[in-house]
Amino acid sequence: MAPSGTHRAKLAVTEAGLARKITELLQGAAFEILPAKDPQAAELLIVHLGPEAEARLSSVEEALRKGAAEEVFLVSETADPKILMQAMRIGVKEFLPLPLDAAEFKSALERFKERKTQAPGKAADRRGSVVSVFGSKGGVGTTTIAVNLAVSLAQGQAGRQVALLDMNTLFGEIPLFLEIAPKFHWGEITKNIERLDAQFLQNTLTRHKTGIQVLPSPAYLNGHVRPTPEIMSRLLGLMRRMFDFVVIDAGQSTDDTSLKVLETSDLLMLVTILSLPCLANTNKLVRSLSDLGYVPKERIRVILNRFHKRSEISLADAEAGIGKEIFWAIPNDYDTSMAAINSGKPLLNVAPGAAITKSLVELARALADPGAAAAAAKKKGLF
Ligand SMILES: Nc1ncnc2c1ncn2[C@@H]1O[C@H](COP(=O)(O)OP(=O)(O)OP(=O)(O)O)[C@@H](O)[C@H]1O
Ligand SMILES: [Mg+2]
Repeated sequence: MAPSGTHRAKLAVTEAGLARKITELLQGAAFEILPAKDPQAAELLIVHLGPEAEARLSSVEEALRKGAAEEVFLVSETADPKILMQAMRIGVKEFLPLPLDAAEFKSALERFKERKTQAPGKAADRRGSVVSVFGSKGGVGTTTIAVNLAVSLAQGQAGRQVALLDMNTLFGEIPLFLEIAPKFHWGEITKNIERLDAQFLQNTLTRHKTGIQVLPSPAYLNGHVRPTPEIMSRLLGLMRRMFDFVVIDAGQSTDDTSLKVLETSDLLMLVTILSLPCLANTNKLVRSLSDLGYVPKERIRVILNRFHKRSEISLADAEAGIGKEIFWAIPNDYDTSMAAINSGKPLLNVAPGAAITKSLVELARALADPGAAAAAAKKKGLF
């Protein structure tokens, strides 16, 4: 029997010299090595990618899907970025170049052990919701809504874990809205994507007083690797397991990476205001995103910001123009929203009793408790 504290590994490495080296390193780190045919699932499967990379990757994907292996490390002569990304997408944890660097391999095994000792049920079992907030036009209040929605979600229930991610490149304003001076931004993630795991991400996030964890965008254009659709898939996959809600200030970008983010989101909050050009944009967005298959209509929620009853355009006209019902209307209150922004505080701190704040708190409640959403949504225009 294996001594306690060992982990079960399997090898899919045909080359004898390499298999021997990996076996030694695994045994040195107190791993038990199961024969390839052993019916027990491997906690760690080590695969030599070899020349048939594509075929190998599909069998790795299948092993992960079936639960035959909990984690996979790939060792490979080539580090073709396409293959690397594909490997990440299917959930490969480590990609180690050949010739094998013993120290690098050992630290990968250490990271594996750290992941295994993380409290079960805490990071591993969560399946959080990704909520993207997207502006139908610039300046309609996307950042205000993303920031205050995240804070309201976090404050709505003790222990609820909420992250706030800024996808606006260069003009990300979340640190100003929350008066924080983050050490890291998502450039840190894109630069180190092969190292990304819960621990790394946790160290990259900045905690705000309200409990939300913030990942801002870079403040300079130079010197960072832009996020790709693959990177975002991986990042959001990990964030879902760490948080109950991941709120994204998606700005207005519709490049491939942003589309991937929208596609991955459970909900897309499309922010609009009662102006004809903005409503026309919202209509185009709803149609394009759903017709092209990025986001099905039922996952889109139209959020009407800066609403006041005396507007020349009625809610019914607006809905007819957009071609979709308005899910929520947030009252117009320029002074309070500006006071919050200029003091670097969330609305809940600056004006907890204001109608605009209450509306965002209710919106958070409707998202967290979809059962209550229908009833709450009926009240959307009645403040
Ligand atoms: N409900 C509201 N009532 C009145 N003014 C609002 C409301 N929400 C936001 N604003 C104001 O709209 C302006 C833009 O807000 P914000 O920066 O959140 O928008 P944005 O869509 O993120 O802008 P950008 O396109 O520049 O990123 C701010 O001056 C803010 O005070
Ligand atoms: Mg903004």
